[in-house]
Amino acid sequence: MVAASVVPAIRRARHVVVMTGAGTSAESGVPTFREAQTGLWSQYDPLQLATPEAFEENAALVWDWYVWRRNKVLAAEPNAGHLALAELESLVPRLTLITQNVDGLHQRAGSPHVIELHGSLLRARCFERGHLAATWPACVPQNPPRCDVCGGRMRPDVVWFHESLPTAALQEAEQAVLAADLFFSIGTSSVVYPAAGLGMLASERGATVIEINPSATPLTPHADHVLHEPSGRVLPDIIACLRDPPGSAESRR
Ligand code: OAD
Repeated sequence: MVAASVVPAIRRARHVVVMTGAGTSAESGVPTFREAQTGLWSQYDPLQLATPEAFEENAALVWDWYVWRRNKVLAAEPNAGHLALAELESLVPRLTLITQNVDGLHQRAGSPHVIELHGSLLRARCFERGHLAATWPACVPQNPPRCDVCGGRMRPDVVWFHESLPTAALQEAEQAVLAADLFFSIGTSSVVYPAAGLGMLASERGATVIEINPSATPLTPHADHVLHEPSGRVLPDIIACLRDPPGSAESRR
């Protein structure tokens, strides 16, 4: 069993950092960021919609795209990989979960604390002043809805291209990586910085790096273990091995 190969490293770890990307949600039916959009949205390139400039140019179109993406995410369920990561929390001394995903599926799977580097589709804030809405704005004739506090245009609370990541989240993630002795990179193409730099930082600091991705990425040459498997399949196998007494799982082949 491929999963058994990484169990000794996990058993030795004192502080595990996990960073996930869109591939972690692929088995929940949530398209990865670069997969073609479907239906009405197939004519649009996500990279052309997820920018402040696109919102300034056509706020209604961008808002409608995010309403569509949010509805897809709400219709999805956490997959076995999300659930395994939530359980991993109880099987290691300390775990920090960082995600680039905006779908909230880690939280729905039971992970108690998720560092959301790119924000969340489940929250909205106003474009003009950043006021966070307590709940997702109701569908109103005005598109996009307006901020209750300042009347500004509402936007999803996600990081767009040409925007900075939330400072507190990035600092918390970096601090965790600096303290980690084991780093999982799961379901990410490792090409979008600064998130992609966390795996390299972990490797440079001497942490053991485990990559789970059916495809190779720029991090692959720097990983100590590479599992070319879907995360929804291999993560439950890893958890099953960890539940066994030390030694029994490692002998499982
Ligand atoms: P990508 O779509 O760039 O990469 C998804 C990765 O998941 C690919 O490397 C796939 O090979 C892998 N993958 C697919 N199915 C998988 C599975 N079942 N199990 C494991 N891996 C699988 O998504 P991200 O790397 O998350 O940024 O993209 C990073 C950021 O780029 C996104 O957060 C977004 C985008 O620009 C913002 O929105 C700011």
